[in-house]
Amino acid sequence: MANTIKTKVGIIGGGPSGLLLSQLLDLKGIDSVVLERRTRDYVLGRIRAGVLEQGFTDLMREAGVAERMDAEGEIHNGFEISDMGRLHHIDLKGLTGGDTVMVYGQTEVTRDLYDAREARGGKVIHEAMDVQPHDLTSDAPYITYTRDGEKCRVDCDFIVGADGFHGVSRKSIPEDQITEYEKVYPFGWLGILSETKPVHPELIYARSERGFALCSLRSQVLSRYYVQVPLDDKVEDWSDERFWDELKARLPEDVAAKLETGPSIEKSIAPLRSFVCEPMRYGNLFLAGDAAHIVPPTGAKGLNSAASDIYYLYHAMVAHYDEGDSTGLDSYSETALRRVWKAQRFSWWMTSMLHNFPDNPDFDRKIQNIELEYFLESEAARASLAENYVGLPF
Ligand code: FAD
Ligand code: PHB
Repeated sequence: MANTIKTKVGIIGGGPSGLLLSQLLDLKGIDSVVLERRTRDYVLGRIRAGVLEQGFTDLMREAGVAERMDAEGEIHNGFEISDMGRLHHIDLKGLTGGDTVMVYGQTEVTRDLYDAREARGGKVIHEAMDVQPHDLTSDAPYITYTRDGEKCRVDCDFIVGADGFHGVSRKSIPEDQITEYEKVYPFGWLGILSETKPVHPELIYARSERGFALCSLRSQVLSRYYVQVPLDDKVEDWSDERFWDELKARLPEDVAAKLETGPSIEKSIAPLRSFVCEPMRYGNLFLAGDAAHIVPPTGAKGLNSAASDIYYLYHAMVAHYDEGDSTGLDSYSETALRRVWKAQRFSWWMTSMLHNFPDNPDFDRKIQNIELEYFLESEAARASLAENYVGLPF
């Protein structure tokens, strides 16, 4: 094929997982090509994660892309849980002996990664259509795609599937070679972004009789708010006015009274799902990030779990190319999954504790009430919550 590129690592997906891996590998002299189906503007237009664990920010620093994050990101020492109208502070720093999280949006992370790849002449190919990986169990796997109507090909040693939940990579593995574990929740999150001052300096996770709500932020002039909604609700059902009224009704009265409202600049509904694919490797295809696992956003673990996959994969690939040691690649799936399942447990647990479940039997509702009460009054329990929220070690 005329348009054939040869590289070491062919990466499918130009989201944060794929870009971070290609940047880290490049710094170690390992060549890669990233194939992204969408335009750069489209990828940057998606409003997603906002809270980064320390392990993630350390990896951004290792990748040499942390300058703006360290200047503009906000360190958060804690967050609030509002239970039926009362705020309870979770002192992350105090409970973990010094650990914190960083508020810096996924959009900004991705923008910084794109800029860094561009500055180093990295190969990120946008609008790569009909991407398909081939010969996954051979020593010479390859990827085909179409660009501007022309058929193209990437020959490589390894393929990394970093193409998100709906990508082609996981679907290219024979069904009898993987097991998928899934839990779908009977609600979604309606989120808005608005150019207003955040209602509170820290995040507020609010449980109320009307359902869950989250007050988050991107900066001191950009707020991100969510409310739990039924799965069949449509964005069109929710005018800005209805959203603000519902949010206020789920917050403590004194907080609601301070809420600054304004027009939304983005509004979308995300369904909530827990999902894991095992194993995360098939032959010379390695899955990373949302391509292999999804969490409900309640624990802010989606992007952070993607980062831990990249950490393991990056180190495994460096050991392979620099020292001829492939043990890290051989144990990648097992190592990554151990941490993935811990993030799954935490996200499922936070979701279960804070949301209204339609048709919940009275017994379950009673357990939910008492579980939160226990977590808020026991320092040992809060320490466990904090340890998971700031992120378990890689
Ligand atoms: P993605 O970001 O999905 O990137 C995959 C890329 O692959 C995309 O750019 C896609 O266009 C591309 N692609 C897909 N198919 C193909 C193909 N066939 N060929 C080529 N390219 C392809 N996490 C949190 O921690 N906190 C949050 O608040 C939070 N909110 C979220 C809200 C929403 C609506 C969603 C969808 C996710 C949210 N997440 C959140 C999860 C977090 O955004 C993801 O975990 C993170 O984006 C994973 O990064 P990734 O690079 O693995 O996948
Ligand atoms: C966000 O700011 O979008 C956000 C923050 C924390 C979460 C989920 C989403 O748990």
